[in-house]
Amino acid sequence: MEESIKKARKNSVENQILVIFGSNGDLAKRKLLPAIFQLYLDNLLPENFAVIGAGSQEKDEETNRNDVNSTLLEFANTGATEFPEKLTSFLTYVYYQKVHNQTEEDFGSLKTYIDTLSSKLNIPQNIIFYFSIPPFLYEIVAASMVKFGMNTEDNGWKRIIIEKPFGYSLDTAIDLDKKIRSGFNEDQIYRIDHYLGKETVQNIMVTRFSNGFFEPIWNRKYVDRVEITASEKIGVGSRGGYYDTSGAMRDMVQNHLLQVLAVVAMEPPSIFDSESIRNESVKVLQSLRPIKPTEVTENVVRGQYIETMVDEVIQKGYRQEKDVAPNSKTETFLAMRIFVDNWRWGDVPFYIRTGKNLPEHVTEVVIHLKPAPHQLFKRRCVAQSTNMIILRINPDAGVAVDFGMKIPGAGYKVQNVNMAFHYSDLAQNKISEAYERLLLDCMIGDSTLYARADAVKASWKFVDPIIQAWKNNPDIPLYFYEGNTWGPKEANALFGDKELKWRAPFKKFKTD
Ligand code: BG6
Repeated sequence: MEESIKKARKNSVENQILVIFGSNGDLAKRKLLPAIFQLYLDNLLPENFAVIGAGSQEKDEETNRNDVNSTLLEFANTGATEFPEKLTSFLTYVYYQKVHNQTEEDFGSLKTYIDTLSSKLNIPQNIIFYFSIPPFLYEIVAASMVKFGMNTEDNGWKRIIIEKPFGYSLDTAIDLDKKIRSGFNEDQIYRIDHYLGKETVQNIMVTRFSNGFFEPIWNRKYVDRVEITASEKIGVGSRGGYYDTSGAMRDMVQNHLLQVLAVVAMEPPSIFDSESIRNESVKVLQSLRPIKPTEVTENVVRGQYIETMVDEVIQKGYRQEKDVAPNSKTETFLAMRIFVDNWRWGDVPFYIRTGKNLPEHVTEVVIHLKPAPHQLFKRRCVAQSTNMIILRINPDAGVAVDFGMKIPGAGYKVQNVNMAFHYSDLAQNKISEAYERLLLDCMIGDSTLYARADAVKASWKFVDPIIQAWKNNPDIPLYFYEGNTWGPKEANALFGDKELKWRAPFKKFKTD
C-alpha cells in the first residue's frame, strides 16, 4: 500500500477491540490471526488495541499467547519468523476469554472481561465481534450478545462480521437476517465475502471505470460472452462434513462467483462510495434471469469427482472423503449459463464455472469480444483471430488483451498475440491478502466490500430454485469427472456451439 494511503487509513482507525468468536478454529488460525499480524507489521493497527480470542477451550492468557505464537509461526505470510521481536510485541495485544457459544452466561462473563480490559488498557468500547463459528450458531451468539448489551452503541460503536454462508436457502437467509436485525442495525452488520477483498477483484472496477477504452465496449454490442472460472486443485479434504450439506452452489456460486459477476456487469456508480457501489451491484443480482426447474438441465451442469490416479498416486473420490455420505449427490463441480436481463447485457451469456480437484487453482474473468463485423482476412488466416480481455484474479494476477496481428512475411496471415500486465510488475506494492483488506475496512467502518442484505437475498433467490430442482427431480444428471481434469465434458455443451469450449487457464498467466 502506498505510504500516503497507508497513513490516511491508519489515521482513520480508532482505538478498538476485536473479539473473535471461534478463535481456536481453522479460519481464525489460517486467515484472521495472520491478517491481524500483517496489519500490525504494516503499522496499520491503532495505538490502543486488543484482540480477544473467545473460544470454547478453557485456557489461561499465557497458554493462549503461546498458541497464537505457534499459529503465526505456521501460517503468517511474512514476518513471524523473520522478525521474532515483532511477533513478541504483537502478542502483548492478545487476550483470551473462554466462551462456549451455546452457554448464555459465558456472554455475561465476556462482557465483564471486555469492560475490565477496556478500562485497564484505556480503549473506548469500539468493538468488532467476528463470527468465526459454524453458521448454525450465528443466531444464538447474536441473541446472547444482545442479552448482555453488546450491541448498544452509547459508549462506542459495535460491529459484527459474519462469515458466509449467510443462510442455507432464501427463506433461512431472510429469517436469519430478521433475527440478527432485531438486535443490530444494518450498518453494524458486515457480511464478509473474501472474494470482494481480493485486490484484483477491486481492480475490475478500476479497469472498467478509470479507462476510456474498456467501458465503451463493455456491453452487448461488443461482448459475445463472459466466462468466469474459479477452479481449485484440491478436493474437500477435512471439510467433508460441511461441504456435503453445502456443495459448490452454496459454497462458491451463491456468494463468491455471483459477487464477481456483479462487479463485472454493474453500471458505473455516480460516486464511489459504499452505498452507490452496492446499489449498482445489487441491481445486477436482481436482474439475473431466473432458471426455471425445467430449464436447469440445459443451463446448469453439475459434477462430482471420482477416484483418480494422478502422478501414480490415488486421489480419493468425493464419496470416499471423510464425513461424506457414500451415496452423496453433492456437486463438487458446477458450470452454468446465466443471463443478466438488463439494457447493457440483454442476451449476452455469462458462463460461470467452479470445481474441486481440477488441474489448477485459478480465478479469472474472460470477456470474449464479438468478431470484427467483416472478416477481411478470413480466407488467408489459418485461424480467425479472437479478441479477449482477461482479468486474472489469482494466481499471477493481471490483465491481458488478446488480439490478431499480421505474421511478418508475404501475404496476410493473422496470428493471435497478447499484451499482458502482471501485478507483480508493481513490485514495490505487495498485494494484501483479502482478509487484511476487509478487516481493516471494518475497523474503519467502510462496508463497500461487504455484502448487503439485499444482495445476499437476491443471490439466494436466483440459486434456490436450482437447488430445489435437483432435490425434486433426481433425474437431473450428476456427471462424474476424474480428478486433475476440467470437470465433466458436458460442461462444454452449455455453449450450444460445437466450436466453443471453456478456456483452460494455466497457472502462469498466459492467454493462449
Ligand atoms: C471458501 C470456500 O469460501 O473459498 C472454499 O468455502 C474454497 O471451499 C475457498 O476453497 C476458495 O477461496 P480462494 O480464495 O482460495 O479462491
